[in-house]
Amino acid sequence: MTRRPAGAEGRHVSARGGTRTPLIAGNWKMNKTVAQAEEFIAGLLPRISARAELDVAICVPFTALQAMVDSARGSGVEVYAQTMHEELEGAFTGEVSAPMLTELDVHGVVLGHSERREHFGETDRALAAKVGAALEAGLHPILCVGETEEERERGETDRKLRHQVQEGLHLLDADQIARVTIAYEPIWAIGTGQVATAQQAQEAVAFVRALVGDKTPEAAEAVRVLYGGSVKPDNAAELLALPDCDGALVGGGSLDPEGFAGIVEAARGA
Ligand code: PGA
Repeated sequence: MTRRPAGAEGRHVSARGGTRTPLIAGNWKMNKTVAQAEEFIAGLLPRISARAELDVAICVPFTALQAMVDSARGSGVEVYAQTMHEELEGAFTGEVSAPMLTELDVHGVVLGHSERREHFGETDRALAAKVGAALEAGLHPILCVGETEEERERGETDRKLRHQVQEGLHLLDADQIARVTIAYEPIWAIGTGQVATAQQAQEAVAFVRALVGDKTPEAAEAVRVLYGGSVKPDNAAELLALPDCDGALVGGGSLDPEGFAGIVEAARGA
C-alpha cells in the first residue's frame, strides 16, 4: 500500500487526495454505571483538546448513552453504542434498534465485536444487515474483524479477514462502504496485554484495506481502518503511525480518563 504523508491538517491523506480523519474510540464493554460514566467524562474533557484533525469517541453501555450524549455535547467527543439489532422494531426482547440510538443523538455503533460474535452468537449474515441498517439510520458503524491465535498459527489470518470483510460489506454499495470504519482486532491481543507487533498490525490493516479495494478502489481510500487489542498510552504512538492505520479501538485502556487521554494525545503526535 502507498505510504500516506500527514496532510496540512494532520489527516491521513491518500495518494489519490482523499482524506481520512483518524479515530480513537474507547470501548467500555460492560463497564460503568451512569454515575461512573459521568465521573469519567468530567475527568476526560479537561485532558483532551477538541481539534479537527482527530475524532474521539466513547462506546458506552446502552444505559449510559443519554447521559454521555448530554455530557459530551459540544466537546467534540462522539458517543457510540456497542451493538444494535438490524430490524427497525419488532418482537426482539432485549434488543435496541438504530432509530432508538439516533433519537438519543448517538453518533455511531460498534458491530461484530469478537465478544459479541463469541458469546452472543452474532453472525456474519446478521452483521451485514446491521451495517446497512446503521448507515441508513445515519449512524457510523465500526465493523470489527480479527483472527484467533489458532487461526494465526495455522496461517489462516488472511482467509478469516477476507471472509469477515466480504461478508460484513456485501450488502453495501461503494458510497456506503466508504462510510464504514473497520477495526482489525486480533482476538489474541484483546484484553491480554499482548499487543500485535507494528509489522503484524500494518500487514493486517493494509490487507483489510486491500480487501475493500477489491470491491471498490474509491472506498478503499476513504474507509478508516483501526487497530484494536491492548492499545495503551505507551504503544499507541507506534501503532497509530503505521501507514494504513487510521486509529484505534481501545478496551481496557479507555476505562480511566487519564490513560485514555494519553492515547488520544499519542494519536495526535503520531
Ligand atoms: P483491549 O480491548 O484494548 O482491552 O485489548 C480492545 C477491544 O476489545 O476493543
